[in-house]
Amino acid sequence: MDTQVTVNHPETVLRTRGLTRTYVTGATEVRALRDVDFDVQQGEMVAIMGASGSGKSTLMNILGCLDRPTDGTYELDGIRVDGLDKDQRADIRNQRIGFVFQGFNLLPRTSALEQVELPLLYDRTGREGNTREIAAAALERVGLGDRMDHEPSELSGGEQQRVAIARALVTEPAIVLADEPTGNLDTRTSIEVLGLFQELNAQGITILVITHEHEIARYAKRIVRLRDGRLLQDEPVLDRRDAVRDLAEWIDPDEDEAASAFAPIPKSEGGAA
Ligand SMILES: Nc1ncnc2c1ncn2[C@@H]1O[C@H](COP(=O)(O)OP(=O)(O)O)[C@@H](O)[C@H]1O
Ligand SMILES: [Mg+2]
Repeated sequence: MDTQVTVNHPETVLRTRGLTRTYVTGATEVRALRDVDFDVQQGEMVAIMGASGSGKSTLMNILGCLDRPTDGTYELDGIRVDGLDKDQRADIRNQRIGFVFQGFNLLPRTSALEQVELPLLYDRTGREGNTREIAAAALERVGLGDRMDHEPSELSGGEQQRVAIARALVTEPAIVLADEPTGNLDTRTSIEVLGLFQELNAQGITILVITHEHEIARYAKRIVRLRDGRLLQDEPVLDRRDAVRDLAEWIDPDEDEAASAFAPIPKSEGGAA
């Protein structure tokens, strides 16, 4: 079956209506998402916030075509994807979604270049071009041109997340979905990764970042809040943070006692969400 069922809203990358996901385990039902209407336009950088259990990962899994809604519709890149079967979703996922995870999810004992090349080798669209060169260009784009032969164990956390971001970008997806991408990084490295997202977004890449930290969300252009599976609030960020400026003003807390007064990202707001 042709997966390209309909093409409705070309400028809209994501569009959900009445999106609902109910988990049934034995006699209990958990309504993890309830009637969510959510749009993301091309070129946006959106943060999804919410406490642990609010439905963030459930939403990410459906938006990333890893899971299907119980009810409601979902259009990705103008294509209805809510009714697709497993194989069809795998194809859509590989072609249109770039994932970035909290734990980087890189393969051990595999060079950065090979990690980034892999999605191109799995691609069944018969894309033209030299996969090595395309992967190398993606690594250059994230500032890792001089680390291509390095394995994860030879890279810092921030560098590993950059490899993961290059891997997410290499297929030129419609959107990059990042689930707590700075959750395993220190504050300064977190700002560097958010700076890379801001730079890529300025180049036109559409990005959705899940986080439970408000200071992280403030690097996005728009914040959406989930509570108990409902979309509670959807607002532009009026006081958006600029990672380049924050890094220029950065004072290493180890070098300067007074720097503890400058705490751009309190890491104490909560545990893993
Ligand atoms: N596979 C599952 N089976 C049953 N319940 C689940 C499953 N995944 C998540 N849930 C429940 O759905 C709700 C939302 O979970 P989740 O989307 O993981 O939230 P968050 O990512 O915001 O912490 C929670 O109550 C959680 O316990
Ligand atoms: Mg989660």
